Amino acid sequence: MALLLVAGGTGAAGRATAREALGRGWQVRSLSRTLPAPTRVLDGVEYVRADAASGSGLAAALDGVEVVIDTLEARRGRALRGYPLAGRRLLDAARGSGVDRAVSVSIMACDQFPLRYYRSKVAKEQVYAAHALPTTVVRCGQFHDVLGSLFERGERFGFLPILPQARLQPIDLSDVARALVDAAQAPAGGFLLTAACGPEVRSMRSLAGAWRTATGSTARVVDLPVPGRIGRSLAEGRNLMADAAFGTVTFEQWLARRAIARADPRG
Ligand SMILES: NC(=O)c1ccc[n+]([C@@H]2O[C@H](COP(=O)([O-])OP(=O)(O)OC[C@H]3O[C@@H](n4cnc5c(N)ncnc54)[C@H](OP(=O)(O)O)[C@@H]3O)[C@@H](O)[C@H]2O)c1
Repeated sequence: MALLLVAGGTGAAGRATAREALGRGWQVRSLSRTLPAPTRVLDGVEYVRADAASGSGLAAALDGVEVVIDTLEARRGRALRGYPLAGRRLLDAARGSGVDRAVSVSIMACDQFPLRYYRSKVAKEQVYAAHALPTTVVRCGQFHDVLGSLFERGERFGFLPILPQARLQPIDLSDVARALVDAAQAPAGGFLLTAACGPEVRSMRSLAGAWRTATGSTARVVDLPVPGRIGRSLAEGRNLMADAAFGTVTFEQWLARRAIARADPRG
């Protein structure tokens, strides 16, 4: 089978994507600035170092690659400002290496919320849309793991923070990976914008409730209402997309799997 490169293959979405691609018979290479710890290495994945922001190492990382899946992330500062440019460097290097097509993950309704982080996602989508290489962007709902980390961190301070207006369509990383590899395997041509969310629309309050039930937490659920336009957009459900249900794993199923994994870290 041909070679698939996961840019950011050591991260949360990237690791799940590398595993999914391996399972479908692809040869898989992962690109990141740092190599994974030995406990995080997936058997069968080739790990290489490159920096998409500076371009260093990209040509070698892309050598022989047929398709790229971009799961890079930048959350703040210079990396956030340079995030769209890093996407372009990756695509330019991919085109120069004879790559067939590229897929990028993005965030559901990122164009509906005027936040710096979301604007960087929109700017990167535009880079993908304008590029000469055939590309697909898959907008995904919130990852179950991210909600889990939010509640876990809050619990340490005795409360579970929620945005009371917010309903979400959270998705499991295995479903994100499936959506990305499906897109990578689809016939290429032009630009395609798609979406993949989890199977349910859930209020943040009900997700916090599920967390409490599954973990036995007694932490209080604390409302942190979002003011202004963003709050109104959330209340109107402008972050939702009814026809984007793709995933099959619910938040409760993710919680159950997580409990089993924690009870048996070798599993
Ligand atoms: N969190 C959510 O709920 C959610 C929902 C929808 C979509 N998404 C999107 O999914 C994507 C992946 O998120 P994630 O949580 O999986 O991110 P993550 O765990 O932080 O992983 C990011 C990966 O990118 C690599 N990376 C970052 N900067 C790089 C650079 N300049 N050059 C090369 N590699 C670089 C990181 O490795 P090094 O640091 O070692 O380089 C890591 O492998 C993001 O674009 C995010 O916006 C997230």
